[in-house]
Amino acid sequence: MTKIRAAITGINGWVPEFRLTNQMLETMVDTSDEWIISRTGIKERHILKGEGLGTSYIGVKAVNGLLEKTGANAEDIDLIICATVTPDMQFPATANIISDMTGMKNAFGYDLNAACSSFIYSVVTASKFIESGTYKKIIVVGVDKMSSIIDYTNRDICVLFGDGGGAVLIEPTNEEFGIMDSILRCDGSGRVHLHQKAGGSVKPATHETVDAKEHFVYQEGQAVFKFAVINMADVSAEIMKKNNLRSEDIAWLAPHQANLRIIDATVRRMGISKDQVMINIEKYGNTTSGTIPLLLWEWENKLQKGDNVILSAFGGGFTWGAVWVKWAYDS
Ligand code: ACO
Repeated sequence: MTKIRAAITGINGWVPEFRLTNQMLETMVDTSDEWIISRTGIKERHILKGEGLGTSYIGVKAVNGLLEKTGANAEDIDLIICATVTPDMQFPATANIISDMTGMKNAFGYDLNAACSSFIYSVVTASKFIESGTYKKIIVVGVDKMSSIIDYTNRDICVLFGDGGGAVLIEPTNEEFGIMDSILRCDGSGRVHLHQKAGGSVKPATHETVDAKEHFVYQEGQAVFKFAVINMADVSAEIMKKNNLRSEDIAWLAPHQANLRIIDATVRRMGISKDQVMINIEKYGNTTSGTIPLLLWEWENKLQKGDNVILSAFGGGFTWGAVWVKWAYDS
């Protein structure tokens, strides 16, 4: 029997209009354009403004555009997975809200949170439902409104993150294309270095937690950097080795966009050249679950059927992983 593979058959991205530039941040905290660019590679990030607009707003924009682009019917979607760390609310899942607002009447959905690795975890999860023959059309939407959990008086953090994301359609194929292999990992001992202190069941919201700014991202940048550099580079090299992929076999690396220096380390470890790497961190910063779909969206025109693409991520948790995708269509 021919193996069913799961293929990405469409991609769409969306970012809000407002651009928060390094120059604007210079007027908000003690920082400089030079520091931000040299330490991170970021020049600006997009921020969702507007009362009552949350992550689902970005997700709906991304999904509606995807449905229009691919010609898929919302009522034919079996499952929507929303990869996010900034759900609209604790419950219901943001996937449910997006499915309602886009007319997915026959779908079920849930959110998946693996911090910056949420999108790749979700793509791999979706691929298993397809490969088993259970479902035919799955949307994975990787979106975050990071500005909702960022302290804009803290220069260590506020320069790094932005809002945005994208959605992919995943369908079965009998061809040797699609999601070919993956390696996913987590190490919960890393939670001390990157987390949100309050708002969960351990420390529900109180006046004190709000006053102490415990609902914002807490990150020990250097510690996270050390783990990210090693693990994202190692797992990207590991997936190549496991599948006998040489550097010349790789068409593109689509790495999580947290810091240009982490991406550089991954590139060196994989032995690929800089022109094989998708990079747009300068425009969007770290959009957490949104970085990889935003890359695929912007690079879609350059992707060709058969291209070997490595998706690679590292995030809070810690979580990390790499996915080997054989791109399934010419744009
Ligand atoms: N502007 C100017 N100076 C700054 C700023 C800023 N925005 N932020 C920090 N500094 C200062 C620090 O206070 C420090 O000053 P000091 O030497 O006087 O103490 C100095 O710059 C160096 O600070 P470091 O933290 O050592 O800077 P580093 O080179 O490590 O860069 C960064 C910081 C960019 C945060 C880096 O550590 C990093 O990228 N870490 C990993 C982030 C990541 O990958 N996160 C995972 C994904 S996030 C998620 O999953 C939600």
